This record gives sequence, structure tokens and C-alpha cells, in this order.
Amino acid sequence: TTNHRIALIPGDGIGAEVLPPARQVLDVLGRRHGFSLSYTSYDWSCERYLREGAMMPADGIDQLRDKDAILLGAVGYPGVPDHESLWGLLIPIRRSFRQYVNLRPIRVFEGIDSPVRGARPGEVDVVVVRENMEGEYSEVGGRLNRGFPDEIAVQEAVFTRAGVTRVLDYAFTLASQRGGRLTSATKSNGIVHTMPFWDQLVTERAASFPQVAWDQEHIDALAAKFVLEPARFDVVVASNLFGDILSDLAAAVAGSIGIAPAANLNPERDFPSMFEPVHGSAPDIAGQGIANPLGAIWSAAMMLDHLGHPAAARDITDAIASILAKTDIRTRDLGGTATTAEFTDKLIELL
Ligand code: NAD
Ligand code: IPM
Ligand code: MN
Repeated sequence: TTNHRIALIPGDGIGAEVLPPARQVLDVLGRRHGFSLSYTSYDWSCERYLREGAMMPADGIDQLRDKDAILLGAVGYPGVPDHESLWGLLIPIRRSFRQYVNLRPIRVFEGIDSPVRGARPGEVDVVVVRENMEGEYSEVGGRLNRGFPDEIAVQEAVFTRAGVTRVLDYAFTLASQRGGRLTSATKSNGIVHTMPFWDQLVTERAASFPQVAWDQEHIDALAAKFVLEPARFDVVVASNLFGDILSDLAAAVAGSIGIAPAANLNPERDFPSMFEPVHGSAPDIAGQGIANPLGAIWSAAMMLDHLGHPAAARDITDAIASILAKTDIRTRDLGGTATTAEFTDKLIELL
């Protein structure tokens, strides 16, 4: 049987509560579909930061390099500044391993009562393709005169032809394999240098994908349309920051940000890809055992797909659809009273 080496990074808060359910689900599927997973766990977290002064060891990236995939819970916790925790772990992994595509699918499942009127179950099925290595998340900039009246902070957004083109090609290809529609999130009416460049590259790449019907929407108007008419979207491609915001918005339209999964992909497979829920460590509910594990479990399905087990991945998404359609067991974010463990047990029963 094929064995896959998986790095597990539970991280902080509910990150450490949603990874064990994902692992339980994975182990059931390995037995059924004839593959095995061997795990290496890393205690890289804010707790480690407070103890040892760093989120991960100096050779942390090297320790992950030979893995087939990385499964991460969430990192960041009060007590450690977010820029220290995220730039000490999550961002370096995405960048070192050239995970330039952040794939964030979302669906409104049968049985979900969306807070949004137009989000009818079965009709909303969207993938946000988020650029994951450059754009607004750049290291170019600085802060001067800290604490003085003339204090200044500057952040440069960096868009490269190569970096934008490769994520657009990924998004157009995905759209051609799905519903054939692509929307580019942009803001060329306000952000005068980078966004017209992004738009120009979309137009250029679109010529190679005549089978895809595409349009572009300003991010502000797009945010409104996501709420008013979510069913009209198929693939949405966006810069790093816009994609970040749109993916939480889309998840909320689908009922809860606790559901949404993410795949940080290195499409060339030169390096391991990383799978993690879209949500963070949720300090407000951490330690209570009530987090929704669906985002982590769906992320595990995306990992299996990436590792070459699409049938096993489908078993997971089918079980997610069926627990929501056929039972009223829900965690609190979806209006229920089930604990993480109760919900996971039921899901495994349906698997
Ligand atoms: P968050 O996603 O942690 O929480 C936002 C809200 O959603 C909270 O009310 C939380 O209780 C709720 N929520 C999130 N996930 C849930 C789940 N699975 N089940 C039920 N409810 C859930 O976002 P935040 O509060 O902005 O961030 C908290 C910390 O997490 C910060 O340090 C942030 O930087 C970090 N963060 C990390 C990641 C990551 O590791 N990829 C992602 C986002 C935020
Ligand atoms: C996400 C998170 C991260 C991001 C933060 C925590 C740096 O919000 O994965 O969506 O912005 O990429
Ligand atoms: Mn986010």
C-alpha cells in the first residue's frame, strides 16, 4: 500500500481541537481505500514561542521538506503579536514551498440555514482562488519615527507578471473544468498601478481560455454581490488580501467560517502543499471542545485529492453533505449544541 508522510501542525487554540477529528476521518479512509498515512507531529505554536522565543526551530522548513503534505490547524494567539506568530510559521511555509495558489471552495449544503436569503442549498458552489505569495502581503515597506507625531508606516503591494500569470492560469484552468465561469476581483478604479496591471494580465490570459466566460468586478461591488446573489459565481480569482477577505465572506454566506477549507498548493509539486481550515485559532471559544471540525475535515479531503485519492476525498465530502442534510446534529456556530467530539463521531458513523 502507498504510504504518505504527513506533517501535522495543530498550532494554537481550536487548531489543536479540529486536527484530531480530521485525523480520525483520514484513518478510516486509509483502511477503506488501501493507503496509509504516517504522521509526524510538530508542537510549533505560540506556546512554543513563549517558551523558546520562536514559532518553529531554525531548520523548521527543512524538517517539512520531505513530507508529502502538511496539515495545519491554526496559529496565532493573544499574548504573541500576530505578525510574530504568522510571519514565524504560516507565511514562511507558504512562501518557502511556493504554495502560490490558495484554493478555497465553499458550498451551501442542504440542511444549512444560511444567514443570506439568496443562498439556497445546492445552488451556491464557489471556489475562491487566492494568490498566496505576493500582492498586498509583501515585505517591502517600513515604519519610521515610532511614537513621534511624524510617525509613518508604508506597505508596498508587489505584483509580478510571473506571479500573477501563474495563479490566473490555475484559475482559468479550474474554471474550464468546472462551470466555465471566472470572475476576477479587482479595484482598478482606486488602486492605480497594481490593479490595472492585474486586469491587463487577466485579459491576456483569457485569450488562451476561450471556453471560459469571464468578467471582472470591483472588490467592493463584488462583496455586495456575494451576499445578494452568491449563486452567480463559479471561480473567483483574487489577489492575496482580497482573496483572504472574500473567503471568510463566502464561508459566512455558507453558514459559518468553521466549514471552509483551504489548500495551499504548490501546483508543480516541487515542495509539499499545506492544507488548513480557513478559520483561525478562535480564542473566544478555545478550550471548550465546541469548535466546528468541518473546515479541518474538508481540508483533509482536499489533501487526499492532492495525494491521488479522489474517491476517498469524495467519501468525506459526501459524509459532510449527509450529516448536514440528514441529521440536525450541529456545532454551536451552526445553531446546534453538539460538541466537536459528538459531531465527529456522528460524521464517522455516516462515512
Ligand atoms: P478566527 O477565525 O479565529 O475567529 C473568528 C470568529 O469565528 C470567532 O468568533 C470564532 O469563534 C469563530 N470561529 C472560527 N472558527 C470556528 C470554528 N471552527 N467553529 C466555530 N466557530 C469558529 O479569526 P480571528 O479571531 O480573526 O483570529 C484569531 C487568531 O487566529 C489570530 O491570532 C489570527 O491571526 C489567527 N488566524 C490564523 C489563521 C491560520 O492559522 N491560518 C487564520 C485566521 C486567523
Ligand atoms: C488566512 C489567515 C492568514 C492570512 C493570516 C492569519 C495571516 O487569515 O489563512 O486566511 O491572511 O493569510
Ligand atoms: Mn483569512
